[in-house]
Amino acid sequence: GVALGKFLSETGMTTFDGGFVNTSSTKSAITYIDGEAGILRYRGYPIDQLAEKSTFIEVSYLLIYGELPSASQLEEFTTRIQRHTLLHEDLKRFFDGFPRNAHPMPVLSSAVNALSAYYQDSLDPKDPEQVELSTIRLLAKLPTIAAYAYKKSVGQPFLYPDNSLSLVENFLRMTFGFPAEPYEVDPRVAKALDMLFILHADHEQNCSTSTVRLVGSSQANLFTSISGGINALWGPLHGGANQAVLEMLDDIKAGGGDTTDFMKRVKNKEPGVKLMGFGHRVYKNYDPRAAIVKKTADQILETLGVTDDLLDIAKGLEEVALSDDYFIERKLYPNVDFYTGLIYRAMGFPTRMFTVLFALGRLPGWIAHWQEMNSDPTTKIGRPRQIYTGYTERDFVGMGDR
Ligand code: ACO
Repeated sequence: GVALGKFLSETGMTTFDGGFVNTSSTKSAITYIDGEAGILRYRGYPIDQLAEKSTFIEVSYLLIYGELPSASQLEEFTTRIQRHTLLHEDLKRFFDGFPRNAHPMPVLSSAVNALSAYYQDSLDPKDPEQVELSTIRLLAKLPTIAAYAYKKSVGQPFLYPDNSLSLVENFLRMTFGFPAEPYEVDPRVAKALDMLFILHADHEQNCSTSTVRLVGSSQANLFTSISGGINALWGPLHGGANQAVLEMLDDIKAGGGDTTDFMKRVKNKEPGVKLMGFGHRVYKNYDPRAAIVKKTADQILETLGVTDDLLDIAKGLEEVALSDDYFIERKLYPNVDFYTGLIYRAMGFPTRMFTVLFALGRLPGWIAHWQEMNSDPTTKIGRPRQIYTGYTERDFVGMGDR
């Protein structure tokens, strides 16, 4: 790759690969995907084993440091994170500046970017201790920021973190609890959310992770780079798809629940009409995460005693799609976003929080990639080339002659 790059630049040629469909931007030892076979592994461990046997905090450690932690390493990691869950009091006031009806994603990314202003002693990407401190701070504070983004949107008071709880339990309490009122975390909800975070924790060079790497390649600090990733995640073709799926299912239900007409519009490629939560750049087989999420959706709705017409509509859409030539020829299968929203909804999250939940899960992956890039001495600043299609040269035209 390096030799080809050198040859091309010496001869004045470039490769063109819009959307980076077939271009590797980096080497990486973090996550392996075989899209044809529907395989996903973090640091060599299959996703189904991690989802069943591990915890989100353990998987975060695995992604960032490369190995599963020993008992003492895990305890130390957990304790360090628990010590950093508070937000600076001034940063809490930062949330007051946003309109009540703001979407929580820009609130999240703005507050994460603002960490660079409040924690200036951990910004140097070349100082390993500062990188470690900003890593711990991010893992600890993102759930607090996410809960505050939610509280802001519903006009309820913020809760301070309770560090006797796990990261996920603490997030649930800060999101749904009230000050001075006891809040019992439902262990079934905490376990399911923890597992969903594991499924979202990394996915190699996707749009948001590539953004984190690109921003970081200029030696921008970790907080700022992650803030860029959160913004990339918000788009409906990426993490924003989980919200878009629920809105699509709601629309179908409001129209009487008939999926046939909707599928016709998808296949006719009506502008803006896609089967959201379907298709993937890399998976040309069933997304292994979607298979786990689908099973969990059934289980959690049943355990929580929730019935949801939208789950039936979603299953109906999947059944139609998987036996339809349009989807078969294009190898379109449900992706991780197709069923997650139904679980989040059963847990009580509003639709607009869904992509925030994705960001909470993806954080350790973003950090692992930023650290991998930052610690590699051969990393160059990311700077793609272009094929210029504009005017060659023309003389300036004065205002009177335009
Ligand atoms: N519904 C209908 N048709 C689709 C869909 C879909 N969801 N996805 C792809 N197609 C069609 C395309 O129109 C195209 O058809 P064509 O060959 O006749 O032109 C063909 O399948 C190939 O699709 P591309 O758009 O070229 O695939 P690409 O790799 O660029 O896009 C993407 C992948 C963005 C995920 C796409 O499948 C999509 O938009 N899906 C819906 C949004 C979504 O669910 N995103 C979440 C992705 S997972 C994640 O980020 C967590």
